[in-house]
Amino acid sequence: MLIKHGEDIAPNGEQQFPYPDGSIVVKEAYRPDKDYVGLIAIMRKKAGVDPEHNDWEFIEYTRNASDAEFRVIAKDGVCWGCHARVEDIDYVFTALQ
Ligand code: HEC
Repeated sequence: MLIKHGEDIAPNGEQQFPYPDGSIVVKEAYRPDKDYVGLIAIMRKKAGVDPEHNDWEFIEYTRNASDAEFRVIAKDGVCWGCHARVEDIDYVFTALQ
């Protein structure tokens, strides 16, 4: 997980919610027995884009070979079901460490 401007979301090391406009959260994943990143999941916060879901845009890309291009596999509606479980901490499961 990559955090831009950690100070903005955790002044003095104390995490604040919601995440500020412009926040980007990236998750990369490897498939079992593969040595390249096969999945990239991104949450990007853009003011006004989806007020029902705290203005997060959800999108996920996959590829099946290390030299293949990433393609969009899923977005938004597919993601809300699970991420809504952590709506109280702005839809992001992973806490800052
Ligand atoms: C089956 C439930 C489920 C669905 C569906 C789901 N997620 Fe997640 N997602 C999780 C869980 C649980 C985590 C935290 C653990 C982890 O990183 O695997 C997570 C983590 C993430 C993270 C890292 C930030 C965080 O919340 O911890 C991003 C980014 C993300 N998901 C994006 C997406 C996108 C984009 C979609 C839709 C294409 C999606 N997710 C669909 C369960 C889900």
